[in-house]
Amino acid sequence: MNINFPIYLDYMSSTPIDSKVTEAMLPYFQDQKIFGNPHSQHVYGKKSMEAITKAKLQIAACINSTPDEIIFTSGATEANNLAIKGSTQFYHRKGKHIITCATEHKAVLEPIQWLVDVHDFSVTVIKPGKDGLINIQDIKNAISTQTILISIMHVNNEIGVIQPIEEIGKLAEANGIIMHVDAAQSIGKLKIDVKKMQAGLMSFSAHKAYGPIGIGALYIRKSPRVRLVECMHGGGQQLGLRAGTLPTGLIVGMGKAFELAKQQLPQDNAKALEFNRLLLNTLSNIPGIIFHGSNKMRVPNNINISVEGIDGEALLCALRRLAISTASACVTTTQDGSYVLRAIDVPDNLAKSAIRISFGRFTTKDEIYKTIELLKKEIYRLRNISGWRADGI
Ligand SMILES: Cc1ncc(COP(=O)(O)O)c(C=O)c1O
Repeated sequence: MNINFPIYLDYMSSTPIDSKVTEAMLPYFQDQKIFGNPHSQHVYGKKSMEAITKAKLQIAACINSTPDEIIFTSGATEANNLAIKGSTQFYHRKGKHIITCATEHKAVLEPIQWLVDVHDFSVTVIKPGKDGLINIQDIKNAISTQTILISIMHVNNEIGVIQPIEEIGKLAEANGIIMHVDAAQSIGKLKIDVKKMQAGLMSFSAHKAYGPIGIGALYIRKSPRVRLVECMHGGGQQLGLRAGTLPTGLIVGMGKAFELAKQQLPQDNAKALEFNRLLLNTLSNIPGIIFHGSNKMRVPNNINISVEGIDGEALLCALRRLAISTASACVTTTQDGSYVLRAIDVPDNLAKSAIRISFGRFTTKDEIYKTIELLKKEIYRLRNISGWRADGI
């Protein structure tokens, strides 16, 4: 068994770059003929712009949009900021109410809070059910004549649940409200069709889908047209919506990653499902393990559990041979544990002991077997020390 330690099981925080992506990007960092500023008119610039045009086509094919509906950003955080701040700045005369959900990524919750604090917006934060899923009726009830934006994520980065985006899209459309979807975790795990979902705006990130860190995109619907006020002012690139020189190499990488994500979706999912079952078969036989998030509406590459009788940090320390995380890697973990788990009513002691295991394209079966062995061993060892017993006696 040839295993590299620590075994990487944190794919929801970032995925390794696929070698085909690296291969596609490398010339743009090495070749003296294709380094040019893509916004320049000479041949060096034109070559760069040609590569960007191709990447846009690859991304558009993956999400069923047109290439001119894609604006590049530095990642999903920036795409979320541009979507939320840009659309509300444009439409604020229609109303100043936003609907979102308590389990959104901070890159959605924080810009909305800023609009509330600084620009007098009001927000309804929907509380999902204990399974992490939004009840569509709660959104219906929250809509008012003042609502201009509904921002709901597709796949949750901590508990892996899939929100009913198509239903929310229908509701938003029927009420003339823009729906923004944070789809940072969707590519390569679910088929994305922006039209079917009736999304006005959708955020993406390359490094969650085997592409490089530092590049993402915002889909902005052309028809019916969604308008934005720019957040990044400068040289007027990307139709003035996001100024700054485009990073050709990173964009080429994102294009290739999204092309592969579409092609490999069936294989990637079949593998994730197989590993998910292997892990569940073992973990569900250990008493006192609580699984977080719906067991039906979820992506297969994520398992989020609390282990009764053991603190999450203690478990992480004991599991140093596994690269897993407590809560989300993008948020500094607080003493209180994950806000996502607290929002779905996971008691404090369990929220503090939760760990997220996420795997993907390059995970091997041997790694999963080793993970199962280490998890079992350390859970029983730590419980022996803490004196925890399933019957509570
Ligand atoms: C759902 C979600 N949205 C946004 C982000 C931020 O993405 P980026 O790192 O590309 O800024 C993440 C990253 O963890 C995420 O999981």
